[in-house]
Amino acid sequence: ALHNREFMEVETPSLFKSTPEGARDFIVPSRIQPGNFYALPQSPQLLKQLLMVGGVERYYQVAKCFRDEDLRADRQPEFTQVDIEMSFVDQNDVMSALEEVLADAFGRMGVEMPTPLRRMNYWDAMDTYGSDKPDTRYGMHLVDLTDIFANSKFKVFATAANEEGSVVKAINAKGAGAWARAKIDKLAGVASTFGAKGLAWIAFREDGSINSPIVKFFSDEEMTALRERMDVEPGDLVMFAAGPRLLSDEILGGMRSHMANALEIKREGHDFLWVVNFPLFHWDEDRKAYAAEHQPFTLPTETDIAKIEADPLAAGSCTYDFVMDGFEAGGGGMRIHNAEMQMSMLKLLGFTEERAESQFGFLMEALKFGAPPMGGFALGLDRVCMLLTGSDSIRDVMAFPKTASGSDLMSGAPSAVSGAQLKDVSLRLM
Ligand code: AMO
Ligand code: AMP
Repeated sequence: ALHNREFMEVETPSLFKSTPEGARDFIVPSRIQPGNFYALPQSPQLLKQLLMVGGVERYYQVAKCFRDEDLRADRQPEFTQVDIEMSFVDQNDVMSALEEVLADAFGRMGVEMPTPLRRMNYWDAMDTYGSDKPDTRYGMHLVDLTDIFANSKFKVFATAANEEGSVVKAINAKGAGAWARAKIDKLAGVASTFGAKGLAWIAFREDGSINSPIVKFFSDEEMTALRERMDVEPGDLVMFAAGPRLLSDEILGGMRSHMANALEIKREGHDFLWVVNFPLFHWDEDRKAYAAEHQPFTLPTETDIAKIEADPLAAGSCTYDFVMDGFEAGGGGMRIHNAEMQMSMLKLLGFTEERAESQFGFLMEALKFGAPPMGGFALGLDRVCMLLTGSDSIRDVMAFPKTASGSDLMSGAPSAVSGAQLKDVSLRLM
């Protein structure tokens, strides 16, 4: 499909320099240059941007990528992307070209992908589904109840309802209202894995009775408004999150997906959509600094450029994720193609000018030659194979996958190396 559209396949090196995509690098010590290291690419991001500057207008590569991060059912330390980049394009050009390519490729596998794909704004996805990769084959939408609880006797809700930036929201898991108390109580533990401090709930039993640790605090008006807004019927379990907006959305988004699995909600066919215009940054609590939401080379939304410095978290970006069946199957964005803007972005991310130069000087030098407007995308090939085959784990579609602790059980990798090998690369173990 890419060849037919005159994309040129280019291979890029695996022994390279750090290419930040948000994970830790795997590093490879150099023998010839003691004390220096290569990094295995987390993606060919910088290399494909340089190819654009060099005049390759349409590039693709089936690229191995390496990321030292905690493994999950849909993540491996080494995986394969179909990596794409185009120049002299705007965001719509890239997205419609990708739709054509993806529909063509999926069609050859007998999977129909209707185009144009739906586009959902990041904040709408978070507000309604509590996820930036929503599975839209079922409802259980997040519902905002903040106004209902402004004067509530239940302090947790009243506090959230009156705090700037906080909300009271809920989901209704139909069918779970019949669950035994002990089973419902376990849900708080699930919610805590998504960052919840507690999980308030109301079970509407089939016999019309109500079971809940919190309804005793509710007035009749609150209860009536709640029933109406949550579309309550016997057999429903309503679960609440009260607190900061994004956190509450993420908690309920996690619970929505947990409940869909627990209740075995039918999800037929495949679900494809774009989630677009992610924020440019998020706040990294560990580092106490702003971090790039996609990566540091992403073009900010034009109308937000002026407010980046004053209110970084409010700035949007020219980005798009390809979401399939509730998974992030691919992602990309438009790039900064101006050296000055790239430098100020790196500074916002906490780089000193010297460090930015030493790590990304080669990119900024290239941009100074006059780079075309460019954008691209990477499809997570293994992840898509997992979804197309209906597998629960990415390991099912990879030959010789690694376990959750990063081991290859067959060979025993990673394993110790000899003293002589360490000496070759001037390393000593601590
Ligand atoms: P991103 O980091 O979103 O974008 O990665 C693109 C896609 O790669 C897949 N993926 C993974 N699959 C398996 N195991 C992993 N550890 C893993 N990490 C990511 C996902 C994801 O959507 N350079 C940018 C793309 C661009 O902007 O052009 C990038 O790598 O399906
Ligand atoms: P408490 O009065 O703090 O014991 O809380 C009563 C109920 O509300 C318990 O079921 C808690 O799990 C739940 N709860 C506490 N904090 C929150 C919160 N921020 N969001 C939703 N539910 C909560």
